[in-house]
Amino acid sequence: VDISPSSDRVTATLPTGESCEVLLYGATLVSWKSEGGQRENLWMSDAAKVDGSKAVRGGIPLVFPVFGPPPSSSHLPQHGFARISRWEFLGKSTSESDSSVQLDFGLMSSNLSPEMRAAWPCEFGVIYSVTLGRRSLETRVVVRNEGAAAWEFMWLWHTYLRVEDIHQTHLTGLSSTPYHDRVASAHLTSEPSPTPLTITSETDRVYHPPDPQSTITVHTPAPRYEITRENLPDVVVWNPWEEKAKGMSDFEPKDGWENMLCVEEGSVREGVRLEGGEAWEGGVTVRLVEEG
Ligand code: BG6
Repeated sequence: VDISPSSDRVTATLPTGESCEVLLYGATLVSWKSEGGQRENLWMSDAAKVDGSKAVRGGIPLVFPVFGPPPSSSHLPQHGFARISRWEFLGKSTSESDSSVQLDFGLMSSNLSPEMRAAWPCEFGVIYSVTLGRRSLETRVVVRNEGAAAWEFMWLWHTYLRVEDIHQTHLTGLSSTPYHDRVASAHLTSEPSPTPLTITSETDRVYHPPDPQSTITVHTPAPRYEITRENLPDVVVWNPWEEKAKGMSDFEPKDGWENMLCVEEGSVREGVRLEGGEAWEGGVTVRLVEEG
């Protein structure tokens, strides 16, 4: 296993060519390649900023400690500070048995900018682990309250999956699940999605599947993505579609929405409360499986 840490990113490559790349800015996964390095599984905007000036438009940005616009009284930015803070690379470990490699990253209150520290004066430590396998990517997080006072947070993996063609993509595992439609900004929509779920217009939904362990599958003409969750009750499905994509300066090419689908796993409908000294853990595994 080849690990190349540089000043701004860490790249891991398996002997068989599969690789992943994590920017220290946001601990953002900016690339995950399978099939001996031939196939990129994450969508990345050509206009994404990777210099630390803005959250990365693509890959897997991390949402913490708030999801979406923060409460009006808060000075936190949209989706929190995890995706715009510089994380530390803590090290790697390899597994001989399944030839996987794990990269660990950390973010603590003391790593935050003074503005963010003032906006969220909670004592915390987050350990983020990325495990690259030949046909899988496993991401895990441990959030710990390092202080005495309790606080609440939200967590989400804002995963931009690359799909061959959004018009030929469908999802299973979310039908008959009530969701909150953020486009209509309506409350809970009890109408279950048709089976299978297709994306045919701007989509921004927070699903709350009754079975928190259920597998969500993204079927595309290429290998399908099988997503399993641990301790993550909510799933956001987002595609900006044509008009919204036009309005985003860091979204390129402008028809890129046809090649991406965000399937975001997290705990975002309500905050998770941690007492002093307590920790919370969550994880997502994405497996590549041949159709048929
Ligand atoms: C999704 C939200 O998670 O992220 C959407 O549900 C939002 O409402 C999208 O538009 C992108 O957010 P941002 O801050 O990266 O432009």
